[in-house]
Amino acid sequence: AALRVHAAARAKFIGAALATGPLANESAYRGLAAAEFNQVTAENAMKWDATEPSQGQFTFGGADAVVSFATQNNQQVHGHTLVWHNQTPGWVQGLGASAMRAALQNHISQVVGRYAANPAVVSWDVVNEVFDDNGTLRTSFWYNTLGQSYIADAFRAARAADPDARLCINDYNTEGINAKSTALYNLVRSLRQDGVPVDCVGFQSHLAIQYGFPSQLQQNLQRFADLGVQVRITELDVRMVMPRDAGKDATQAAYYRDVVNACLAVTACAGITIWGFTDKYSWVPDTFSGQGAALIYNDSYQAKPAYTAVHDAL
Ligand code: XIL
Repeated sequence: AALRVHAAARAKFIGAALATGPLANESAYRGLAAAEFNQVTAENAMKWDATEPSQGQFTFGGADAVVSFATQNNQQVHGHTLVWHNQTPGWVQGLGASAMRAALQNHISQVVGRYAANPAVVSWDVVNEVFDDNGTLRTSFWYNTLGQSYIADAFRAARAADPDARLCINDYNTEGINAKSTALYNLVRSLRQDGVPVDCVGFQSHLAIQYGFPSQLQQNLQRFADLGVQVRITELDVRMVMPRDAGKDATQAAYYRDVVNACLAVTACAGITIWGFTDKYSWVPDTFSGQGAALIYNDSYQAKPAYTAVHDAL
């Protein structure tokens, strides 16, 4: 049976990030996206540059296409992402503090508000990648203009716009126990102590076989769960130095298996979203020179060993 059937039987979601181009143009892409997954994330269509390219001008064409696909296919939507330092227009970055705070609140109110009554849209990445790898808050334009208060403000605005949505903080290189994940842990604990509505922590999980599997993934998920938040794997992919070969495929499959098993072992882990599903459409070759083949189907939609590993683990 499909991945989504096995995931549902385990009370977990199995998701994929969807790109609006192939969603509109390729039936093979649509077919697998519908058949295999019960949760979707817009790969780019809900980001600030897509939804509010100029101030006060909201454009929801791509976001609506993803939500409508999900609705047709009985899938939930995880909103990604409200506040990030990338893919945010220059007009935001150039604002002064009080105008930037107002823009943040208006953006969240409009974007979250659009889908608040839609039962498919269940959760949001409210802030994304707020830490540097050494565990200090990233000196983004958000931080430089507003200080760290932008994080609490964003969560409060999201809660006000949709009291029922699950609100997440999302980051990368936080999968294992390390300085960055410990800083994230301390931030989540302190925000919640202050009454800031953080419900969920997302672990992107952009892994690479040549860098090793994150140490103590399951224990790390569990320590966050013990704070009372839901945890989830939000952007899983496992890249390799090209070219592919059978040995690399087998290592990749084992990484996928071990991520699924870590989530299954933690009650508060809601599920796993893969950052795409076919190597035909993946951010990896564009971002990491010489690397690729990070997903569970190859570029002609054939299942790879990684697909079988996820299937058999679920
Ligand atoms: C990436 C998309 O996959 C690309 O298409 C886009 O060009 C850049 O962003 N962390 C995130 C995602 O939170 O939004 C990023 O997605 C990958 C890294």
